Amino acid sequence: MPISQPSSGMNRRWLLKELIEPELLVGPEHFELVETRRPQPAADEYLLQTLCLGTSPAQRAYVTNTVSMHDKVNAGEVMRGRGVAQVVDSNSKHFQPGELVMATTGWQDYSIHSAHDAGMLAPRKISTGNHPSLALGILGTAGITAYFGLTEVGSVKPGDTVLVSAAAGGVGSSAVQIARTIGARVIGIAGGRQKCDWLKRHYAIEETIDYKSDDLELCLAELCPDGVDVYFDNVGGDQLNSVLNHLALGARIVICGFIATDYDEAAHGPSNYKNLLRKRARMQGYFVFDYHDQFQQAEQQLMTWYKAGKLIDNTDALAGLENMPSALQSLFTGDNCGVRICQTTAYPESNSL
Ligand SMILES: NC(=O)c1ccc[n+]([C@@H]2O[C@H](COP(=O)([O-])OP(=O)(O)OC[C@H]3O[C@@H](n4cnc5c(N)ncnc54)[C@H](OP(=O)(O)O)[C@@H]3O)[C@@H](O)[C@H]2O)c1
Repeated sequence: MPISQPSSGMNRRWLLKELIEPELLVGPEHFELVETRRPQPAADEYLLQTLCLGTSPAQRAYVTNTVSMHDKVNAGEVMRGRGVAQVVDSNSKHFQPGELVMATTGWQDYSIHSAHDAGMLAPRKISTGNHPSLALGILGTAGITAYFGLTEVGSVKPGDTVLVSAAAGGVGSSAVQIARTIGARVIGIAGGRQKCDWLKRHYAIEETIDYKSDDLELCLAELCPDGVDVYFDNVGGDQLNSVLNHLALGARIVICGFIATDYDEAAHGPSNYKNLLRKRARMQGYFVFDYHDQFQQAEQQLMTWYKAGKLIDNTDALAGLENMPSALQSLFTGDNCGVRICQTTAYPESNSL
């Protein structure tokens, strides 16, 4: 089916209506899609056309009236988000029409950027050729997050038993692939039998646990009699509590996220943290952009593994900018399998990988 486009010379933009109360699930009703004239680049500026947009649970924090480490989007502003875009008009000698970049475009078809933008989030040229969405998936943000969590925080080594929560999600399905490539034994936790089967079918991982119908503690006792060496945790809450009872000596717990308790005011920390001492284990949180100066090295490693067939595309795309609010919501209802993105226009045909 063709992907919807703005009217000629126009730009569609998703604006936030107002900050959302934490007990409400973010969704289409909190945003307004408006069409304005396509902007023109001034001196030293260039115009990007968004090709695909990523989603992240952090985006809910941008628009929710709660304390978080992320800046808020104000009412009436374009929703913040990152995506892959193509330069379509340029008054900068540094960016040429046709080039692909990863940029904070926001949820809109077109965005203007300055050639003088600097810092971690400044637009960066990418080389995923005619598969631009890979730069949002295993070769991009999701893959890089999993890579540093496993290698730098989790110190994963061949033979380790690695357990991943939200394993069928974007970062999770990247983590299972990377851990398996490093030579670990991988067990994925996911919500539902369908997601567990998808994990086994696509990523050839040894075992899965459906936390919605299996008894997590019983499964861990059975599957990990010697304990878990690395727990890559995207979820927190009850799942983290259960895993703490099944640690191997010297275990590493990688706190990537805590989507189960993010907006739960009553949530408490783990009750059985004493096992950290008994098992000489460590639990460490991290933020992927802390490793920004090593991104290039990670991208090269991921690309090498991808070209060798050890990693595969894990994007899960919806078509059309109009689906962005639903795409974000799906992360909290569990409707995604892999990295949830929205393709906003046809991808260019040139530039093979
Ligand atoms: N530390 C960092 O730098 C960094 C960077 C990026 C992302 N993150 C974190 O990484 C985690 C994964 O992010 P992602 O973008 O890849 O999202 P995702 O895993 O693709 O989507 C979220 C998944 O979480 C599960 N989930 C949702 N609500 C849940 C709940 N109440 N209890 C248990 N599971 C729930 C769902 O899977 P099921 O259907 O299997 O339940 C859902 O598919 C998030 O916690 C995010 O905040 C951290």
